Amino acid sequence: MLGLKLATDPRWVNIVESNIEEILTDHAWCEQKAATNAITIITNNSEHEELVTELIKLAQEELEHFQMVHDIIKQRGYTLGRERKDHYVNELYKFMNKGGNRQQSMVDRLLFSAMIEARSCERFKLLSQRIKDPELSKFYHDLMISEAGHYTTFIGFARQYGKGIDVDKRWQELIDFEGEIITNYGKSETIHG
Ligand SMILES: [Fe+2]
Ligand SMILES: [Fe+2]
Repeated sequence: MLGLKLATDPRWVNIVESNIEEILTDHAWCEQKAATNAITIITNNSEHEELVTELIKLAQEELEHFQMVHDIIKQRGYTLGRERKDHYVNELYKFMNKGGNRQQSMVDRLLFSAMIEARSCERFKLLSQRIKDPELSKFYHDLMISEAGHYTTFIGFARQYGKGIDVDKRWQELIDFEGEIITNYGKSETIHG
C-alpha cells in the first residue's frame, strides 16, 4: 500500500485489541505530533504561500483528529495518558539529511512526513478491517482516507518544491530505509509500535 515495502502482520491487531485504552492514548499523541510537525514545516518555509495555506488546513485536520480520539477516550471512561514516545518516528527521523541546503531539508522533511502518513494509513486500514469493535472500525476507516489525502499533499509538495532534486530517488531511498526499520515493529499496542 502506497509503495510501502512491508505489510504489517495482522496479528498486531490482536495485540491492539488487548489494550484499547493504550492504543487510543498513543493514537491521540500521534495526531498531536502530526499537527506539530505541520506547524514546524510552516515555520521553516513561511515564504511558500501555497504550502503554508495547505499545511494550515492539514494541521487543523490533525488537531480535529486529536479531538476525535480524545472524545472516544472520554466516552469510554478512559483517561488520556501522558505523551508516548514514538520510537518508529524517531528512527525514521534519522533519514533526514540535516547538513543540506534549505531546499534539500524541506524536501526531506516533506518526504519524512509523507512516509509517516503512508504507514499510519496502512495501520488504520488494517485496524478498520480487523478490529471487532464496530465504532473503532468505522473510525479508523474514515481516518485512513484522511491520512491518505495528507500523504498525497506531502509527496506533491516534495515534487513541486524539489526542482533540481531527484525527489523520486530520494523517496525510493526512504522506502528502503523504512522497510528496514519496520521489521522491528508491529509487536506492541501503539499506532507505529
Ligand atoms: Fe491524523
Ligand atoms: Fe495526517
